[in-house]
Amino acid sequence: MEDAEAREFSKKILTIQEEERHRISRDLHDEIGQFSVSLGSALNVIEKEITKRNLDTALRVIKDAKTLLADTANKIRTLFIDLRPAELDMLGLPSVLRELFSHYTKSYPLNIKFKENIGSIHIKDEVAITLYRVIQEAFNNIVKHAKAKNVKIDLLLKAGEINFTIEDDGIGFNSEEFFREANVDKLGLRGMRERVDLLNGKFFLQSKLRAGTKINVTFPIIEEV
Ligand SMILES: Nc1ncnc2c1ncn2[C@@H]1O[C@H](COP(=O)(O)OP(=O)(O)OP(=O)(O)O)[C@@H](O)[C@H]1O
Ligand SMILES: [Mg+2]
Repeated sequence: MEDAEAREFSKKILTIQEEERHRISRDLHDEIGQFSVSLGSALNVIEKEITKRNLDTALRVIKDAKTLLADTANKIRTLFIDLRPAELDMLGLPSVLRELFSHYTKSYPLNIKFKENIGSIHIKDEVAITLYRVIQEAFNNIVKHAKAKNVKIDLLLKAGEINFTIEDDGIGFNSEEFFREANVDKLGLRGMRERVDLLNGKFFLQSKLRAGTKINVTFPIIEEV
């Protein structure tokens, strides 16, 4: 890599990291902020109802607050899983992904089908981490926007490349319009594409309103020698 190219590369990585931190801090801020406000007002209601000896009403509000707490804890757990693709080098990508998918099927009404033929073949770290990040953001989007029932993931070695696809049967969106417009608040898909570009991978996204969303990523180099 030339000097200027290397500098450009580091700059891009820093930008992606900053955007990611920005997104996580915004999500944490939103979750914790909403939770504190709702819990504060629930506690006020409970106090008032107990003072008035309306115990049934107080108990009902306590029950609602417990549900709110469970939901928030779940969302924050998801954010923490987002922060660390920890066991990637120890367990390998397929196992780490199975863990991630099992978290999602436990937390959301999603049916996930995962097909892979990687087994224990070692994928270059930077490629594995990029794929993991792409999958995380794809899932963030699926639970945030797609209203999907089924998600299909393929991670396949074929013809000397690694070929990854994630497809949902949700509401879809107008992807051409999205990539045409500059939108500083929506960084997920652009960050995904950027990461894949940085490693000379290919990124395709196909989505149409009411027809689901499909992301395909391929990388040429797969095994470390
Ligand atoms: N799987 C999907 N199903 C339906 N709509 C989607 C899906 N993925 C993305 N979108 C749409 O594309 C937009 C852009 O997604 P992107 O991940 O870039 O931003 P975001 O999720 O809105 O925000 P951020 O990822 O920065 O938190 C979303 O706002 C949503 O409208
Ligand atoms: Mg997103």
